[in-house]
Amino acid sequence: MGERRKLIVVSNRGPVSYSREGGERVARRGGGGLVTALRSLVSHHDVTWIASAMSDEDRLVALEGNNEESARDGAAYRLRLVAHDPQAYDWFYNVVANPMLWFLQHYLWELGHTPNLDRGFATAWEDGYSTVNRAFAEAVIAELEQEPEAAVCFHDYHLYLAPRFVRDALPDATLSHFVHIPWPQADYWRLLPEDIRFAIHDGLLANDVVGFHTERWRRNFVRSARDTCEATVEGDAAIHRGRRTLATAHPISVDPQEFDALADSEAVLAEEREIEARRPERLILRVDRTDPSKNVVRGFRAFELYLASHPEMHGRVGMLALLDPSRQDIPEYAEYLGAIQRTARQVNDRFQKEGWTPIDLQIADNFPQAVAAYKQYDVLLVNAIFDGLNLVAKEAPLVNQRDGVLILSENAGVHEELGEWALTVNPFDVGGQSEAIHEALELGAEDRRRFVEAIRAHVREHDVGAWIAAQLADLDAVRGTTIRA
Ligand code: G6P
Repeated sequence: MGERRKLIVVSNRGPVSYSREGGERVARRGGGGLVTALRSLVSHHDVTWIASAMSDEDRLVALEGNNEESARDGAAYRLRLVAHDPQAYDWFYNVVANPMLWFLQHYLWELGHTPNLDRGFATAWEDGYSTVNRAFAEAVIAELEQEPEAAVCFHDYHLYLAPRFVRDALPDATLSHFVHIPWPQADYWRLLPEDIRFAIHDGLLANDVVGFHTERWRRNFVRSARDTCEATVEGDAAIHRGRRTLATAHPISVDPQEFDALADSEAVLAEEREIEARRPERLILRVDRTDPSKNVVRGFRAFELYLASHPEMHGRVGMLALLDPSRQDIPEYAEYLGAIQRTARQVNDRFQKEGWTPIDLQIADNFPQAVAAYKQYDVLLVNAIFDGLNLVAKEAPLVNQRDGVLILSENAGVHEELGEWALTVNPFDVGGQSEAIHEALELGAEDRRRFVEAIRAHVREHDVGAWIAAQLADLDAVRGTTIRA
């Protein structure tokens, strides 16, 4: 992985969160693809990770200052937790970042009705999102004052304003930002008032590099930078306020060796025994957060349509939905979880019979169970409305033991890489998804083997190490020299 560098990683969710159990401080690994992927960075470089303090115990850790942490492989890094004012953080996380920006960037708003940008939103923007971004920027500036040579790597939609605050204080800093979610088309940003959409683009354009998972999101960003900020586009770069920002596309990936080891671990084998004991002859799997962008309800409807037209499969096929409950303090998310549960119930009530429940819905954060199910599926359904990338589509085929077929939304970023070895669906076309389920279950052994092996070979070659190396190469390119630790 080349030479060791000084890096400051900045993300809202940290790699670990602390709690107190039986008087002891316990560190629990943070969730989501972003945190998982970045963990391998820590093993190879000199990293300070700045993240929000989320639990009460995190806030105590924050008061103690820089905290030495160690990754699973024993590599040491520093974790600096920022304790925000609770009201500011609530506005930042539960009003602006999710749902406003998340919904905007995944095209989830129903424009006839939502969003409504009232006074409350203006306050949440000023005294929540902006305040929390300023706190992050101050933490970064304090770190850079100690280590002026370190390169800063901001992550995701929580932190769009922080780079501008840092740039204003330290014009020569090396700043990069990776956006892990889709970048919508320029006009869609007009859901936000001009000053806010300008500040978002202006913040991102304070970086030397802005990265996306796909060429599609990258292209949208460059166009909306031009429309929103009148940035000039030159090749892969946007010029704004006299500075060049390189916009790049590098799809995130996974560590295949980690999955090889996990697949044989005791925790996964125990879960697998349970799945095996209950599984129907043919198993359709989905693994997601309970997020409206994941399109769980339409997936259930598609399965319902499939069952309605294939009575011969009743009792023989089932859908296992392993869903991690997500962001439940936000009404839109709580309502969506309700819709998931209602729909599963309706489908089950319509078709279930002695000894067979068509949809097995499990709402839990259980990673070993997900990996066990990855080994067992015949069909993997990834039908996201829009998705920055989608790591499930890369993880699951690595360990699958049944030459399972991937059904993949054309709007998941990972479709750019894996589409040719999957059955492509339009996420809104429920009938099309139902037909894809049929096709996947009927696909011949040779095609199934060919598809899954091609996906595995691709993911093994383009692993998370390659993703990180590409970003470091971008930093070198903008600095013109290698950054030395
Ligand atoms: C997505 C986002 C991440 C986020 C994760 C989990 O993967 O891109 O930034 O951390 O979801 O969401 P949460 O709100 O629980 O951090």
